[in-house]
Amino acid sequence: MKEGELVMLVDTKKRKYLIVLKKNSFFEFHKGKISHDDLLRKSPGEKIISSKGEELLILKPALFDFVLKKMKRISQVIYPKDIGQILILGDIFPGAKVLEAGTGSGALTCFLVRAVGEKGKVVSVDERKDMIETAKKNIETFYNKKVEEIKHLKLERANLKDVKEKEFDRVILDLPDPWNYLLKIKKVLKQGGILICWLPTVLQIFKLIEEVEKKFYKNFELQGIYETLQREWQKKGRSLRPKDLMVGHTGFLIIFYKIK
Ligand SMILES: C[S@@+](CC[C@H](N)C(=O)[O-])C[C@H]1O[C@@H](n2cnc3c(N)ncnc32)[C@H](O)[C@@H]1O
Repeated sequence: MKEGELVMLVDTKKRKYLIVLKKNSFFEFHKGKISHDDLLRKSPGEKIISSKGEELLILKPALFDFVLKKMKRISQVIYPKDIGQILILGDIFPGAKVLEAGTGSGALTCFLVRAVGEKGKVVSVDERKDMIETAKKNIETFYNKKVEEIKHLKLERANLKDVKEKEFDRVILDLPDPWNYLLKIKKVLKQGGILICWLPTVLQIFKLIEEVEKKFYKNFELQGIYETLQREWQKKGRSLRPKDLMVGHTGFLIIFYKIK
């Protein structure tokens, strides 16, 4: 492992700690401390003992660990359980050209960059400067490189209505009023492409679909409306059952085909 890389430590109670490796530093927690220099000499999959005798498993964090445990959030982020659905139901493929608005803290952007790969392209816009700056830092922390080095990502401070680029395979909207941008999406999304909208309330879904049915029925065809509930289970001795707590509500996915 190298300096600047993210590492995840898992304690005996399965608690996860994400840290960025830095020479001459220490990670301190309630069960003692661990030297980063010692971690730099280890590999993922190995274990390390803290100064108070706690054994920790060393791993490279998955992107969902980073989003849930480490990423700086100044907006509501889309949860990994829902991002999984966006990638599959929205059919995000390697080589795809994807437009995302708004970027927010960059949770979805991090996944999109990986899903489309270097042959694809992600254009992610947010009208707020602080959002773009936060997303930039988050992306750089996870990928351990400057955002400028990720050539297939264009992170831009802009309002969706000012996006000039066209011929997108997919458009993903996580903003409160997607019905106001249908004309814009009609222009920038390829025929046969897919529009994916993320909305937290049913009134928003209703308004969006009504707008499509009234004014854009020739351009967009509803593919589906989805909600994803994920229940995690646990095993403790002879007891194997769902965990007491789960995330009750995040939002809904509304997906359309662009038909004309
Ligand atoms: C909930 S956040 C997005 C979170 C993001 N999907 C994530 O996973 O981290 C919504 C963002 O949309 C941005 N936004 C709202 N309307 C916009 C518009 N018309 N053009 C560009 N960005 C917009 C807001 O500034 C805000 O940062």
